[in-house]
Amino acid sequence: MTPGELGREEAIARILRVDQAGELGAVRIYQGQMAVLGKGCAGPVIKRMAEQERTHLETFNRLIGERHIRPTMLSPLWHLAGFALGAGSAMLGEKAAMACTVAVEETIDAHYARQAEQLGDDEPALKQTILKFRDEENEHRRVGLAHGATQAPAYPALSAAIRTGCRLAIWLSERV
Ligand SMILES: [Fe+2]
Ligand SMILES: [Fe+2]
Repeated sequence: MTPGELGREEAIARILRVDQAGELGAVRIYQGQMAVLGKGCAGPVIKRMAEQERTHLETFNRLIGERHIRPTMLSPLWHLAGFALGAGSAMLGEKAAMACTVAVEETIDAHYARQAEQLGDDEPALKQTILKFRDEENEHRRVGLAHGATQAPAYPALSAAIRTGCRLAIWLSERV
């Protein structure tokens, strides 16, 4: 890792803090979607993605615990906002829920790619974890596209709003 304005330890703390926050948000998004669409035909697909997000979150929960990194103070907000985003998009229909998934996972893909690059040869195990999760997020994006995400009502606006929200959440969770 190239030492930027942050020390190495603070840089890694930021990485783990924001990733734990993001995976918490993801778990809550899929819980919100399940609450609305769980019994519909997309239920099993959403459930599988939800289970993977649960594993991602458990991993980062463990890593921040091991390294004594405090979670973001915004966790209660992501807990609520994630569920609201998941349930809200699902109430607009299955395709809107999938559009939400695609928008979120696109943002996370870029985010994890940037982190992997930032880590370089430092922290190979952490880098591997991030790259594995990135592959799974990309799989979620493909699932969303295969289930008609782009046919959601007002797809470009919906997608842009969610991506902006995610980027803001990332920015905040790295800092607060
Ligand atoms: Fe995830
Ligand atoms: Fe995901």
